[in-house]
Amino acid sequence: MSVRDAEAGDLAAIKAIYDAQVAGGIATFDTVTPPLEHWQDKLTGPHHLLVDEEDGRVQGYAYSATYRPRAAYDRTREVSVYLDESARGRGVGRRLYAVLLDRLRADGVHTVLAVIAQPNPASEALHRGFGFERVGVLPEVGHKLGRWVDTAFWALVLDDA
Ligand SMILES: CC(C)(COP(=O)(O)OP(=O)(O)OC[C@H]1O[C@@H](n2cnc3c(N)ncnc32)[C@H](O)[C@@H]1OP(=O)(O)O)[C@@H](O)C(=O)NCCC(=O)NCCS
Repeated sequence: MSVRDAEAGDLAAIKAIYDAQVAGGIATFDTVTPPLEHWQDKLTGPHHLLVDEEDGRVQGYAYSATYRPRAAYDRTREVSVYLDESARGRGVGRRLYAVLLDRLRADGVHTVLAVIAQPNPASEALHRGFGFERVGVLPEVGHKLGRWVDTAFWALVLDDA
């Protein structure tokens, strides 16, 4: 078991994990699966894209991305984490976030945000465990799988953690 930077050979597995949520979950508001190039772009630039590998198989990934492009947001990042269904509930999400948040600290990031479509008790427990606080809810901003979905914003100020 290890957490490491994603490589080109991991992208098909990452895409499969994400595409399952596009089709059948609310964790993402995408409704059309993004092409492989979408993931290739995340291997370079200011992003971190980490995978958790067990017995040579990628079972989940976590990433950080720019929150908004305007310059005053430079030390803020948005993060997320997705696991294959078979890997959930046994600490893999926690393992990925521990490495990702260390990376962001080392980068000098000040504030980390997560946007969690409701309900998602597993994701909320994961973020709470790292000290994130729920700072607000946007009501009914998404429409997916036949219903309106709220998003909750969770924030962690790294310098305070
Ligand atoms: C959300 C997700 C990443 C959590 O990762 P995970 O590896 O399953 O979670 P962990 O095993 O590391 O557990 C983290 C915490 O969540 C809790 N938890 C896990 N599954 C839970 C569930 N179904 N309900 C309530 N709490 C849960 C654990 O008890 C643990 O809490 P603790 O730190 O207080 O002990 C994972 O379930 C997932 O990939 N879900 C689908 C995609 C998704 O929703 N991504 C998040 C988008 S915001």
